[in-house]
Amino acid sequence: MEIKVKKGGIESEATEVLVLTHFEDEKSLSSELRSVDKALGGLIKTLLASGEFRAKHLETSLLHTHDKLPARRILLIGLGKRKEFQPDRVRQAIGRAACRVRELGVKSFATPIPARQTIKGSLSTVAQALVEGAILGLYQFTVYRTESREEIKTVKEMVILEPEARRFAEIQTGTRRGQIIAEATNFVRDLGNQPSNFLTPTRLARIAQDLAKEHGLSCHVLERSQIEKLGMGALAGVARGSQEPPKFIILEYRGSKRSKERPVALIGKSITFDSGGISIKPAEKMEQMKDDMSGGAAVLGTLKAAAQLRIPLDIIGILPATENMPSGTAIKPGDVVKTLSGKTVEVINTDAEGRLALADALNYALRYKPAAMIDLATLTGACVVALGQWAMGMIGKDDRLKKRLAKAGDISGERVWELPMWDEYFEQIKSDVADLKNVGGRGGGAITAGAFLSKFVGETPWVHLDIAGTAWTDQDLPYIPKGSTGSGVKLLVEFLTDYARKGR
Ligand code: BES
Ligand code: MN
Ligand code: ZN
Repeated sequence: MEIKVKKGGIESEATEVLVLTHFEDEKSLSSELRSVDKALGGLIKTLLASGEFRAKHLETSLLHTHDKLPARRILLIGLGKRKEFQPDRVRQAIGRAACRVRELGVKSFATPIPARQTIKGSLSTVAQALVEGAILGLYQFTVYRTESREEIKTVKEMVILEPEARRFAEIQTGTRRGQIIAEATNFVRDLGNQPSNFLTPTRLARIAQDLAKEHGLSCHVLERSQIEKLGMGALAGVARGSQEPPKFIILEYRGSKRSKERPVALIGKSITFDSGGISIKPAEKMEQMKDDMSGGAAVLGTLKAAAQLRIPLDIIGILPATENMPSGTAIKPGDVVKTLSGKTVEVINTDAEGRLALADALNYALRYKPAAMIDLATLTGACVVALGQWAMGMIGKDDRLKKRLAKAGDISGERVWELPMWDEYFEQIKSDVADLKNVGGRGGGAITAGAFLSKFVGETPWVHLDIAGTAWTDQDLPYIPKGSTGSGVKLLVEFLTDYARKGR
């Protein structure tokens, strides 16, 4: 979708749909609504007085202007109560409004910057949220639909109306940022929605290489033989059951102005299909396990956005990519693998494969002497039980890093929630025959998984984000359609921008 910032008032804009927001149960109108109300002979006031439209959060009402305004229709959308307002409501409202516009079969709509008197953040932040909401809300995954493709509707353009020219630069900064971040998120969604017969580790590696070429990153891919030779026995163990060759994908983005700065390492779980292996999963919902590479996809999307935004940091991306399949050659419960770190792991359950792949990837990342490491992984069903789909589970030992991620979570609308990692949890992952075992029993499954990972990061500041709940949605949300959500890009780009600004 094209985003335009245009000088002008809403009274003179000849658009198909003019989108305007309002706060719940408020009598006084914004200056934009006031001018529309006047042109329409008091229709807005009448509508509000009738109680038919109260501007509850995400409530909409569509009015035709009958040539009393150059705009053909007005789409009102509620922002809810003013005192309950949070910036994410801008994304939600515009996401919902954009979908209504699409249903109408209309190609273009216009909107002023919403609620500008209420929003504390700068104009660029609001403009960013506005663009994110629209582009994310209009996402569709249609590549496999061959029938009645002519019925697929798309919105081509959003026009942001701004009467004051001196505000243009600030708005444009925000819209550009929003567009880059939202498009990177949609790129991640495409990867999560792609079935595993398309998105194999080999395909993922090629996509990473294409991305690197397009954005001037370096990309290096290790093959099965190299993974084994280097001593990544945990990743190799997971990959043994599959006919598809694993790929260990390493990307480097060099955005730092200084030559010897320590990088930030982002590590993403990249299981292109998780059947569970010999500890096979039940059939119900197994198809969703095509998205078990969402962590890796989020790392790719974040690097793409970071490069386009020229974030002044060096960032390393690492994706240990493999399928997890049962077969005659597959790893079996009770098997012991030797990780890159030298630590041995008893594999109690082959379905706890993510932490095996990540153990080697995290340890490999230490070679870059990173200033900070963050991993993203659709790691545990236990995290979904604990937090549902409304927050990522956050585990780590470094308070500064955790605080910064929590703050980035609030700004980006992608919340994180910390889970503890007390010593007692480590008792649960002690093995009788090896250094560790890969499951920690019934209680605290998301935490014991995080505790397991912590054994492979040395003293480096590290945070683990469990995105098992947030990476996929079974229901349409205001700016997240059903399916893969692209979880992590908004959060990480916000975090990295802040990290680059303030240093470590
Ligand atoms: N990829 C799954 C976790 C998952 C479950 C993600 C549901 C999204 C939705 C992971 O590899 C897994 O199977 N974890 C097991 C671990 C258990 C065997 C200790 C789980 O959570 O059941
Ligand atoms: Mn699994
Ligand atoms: Zn998995």
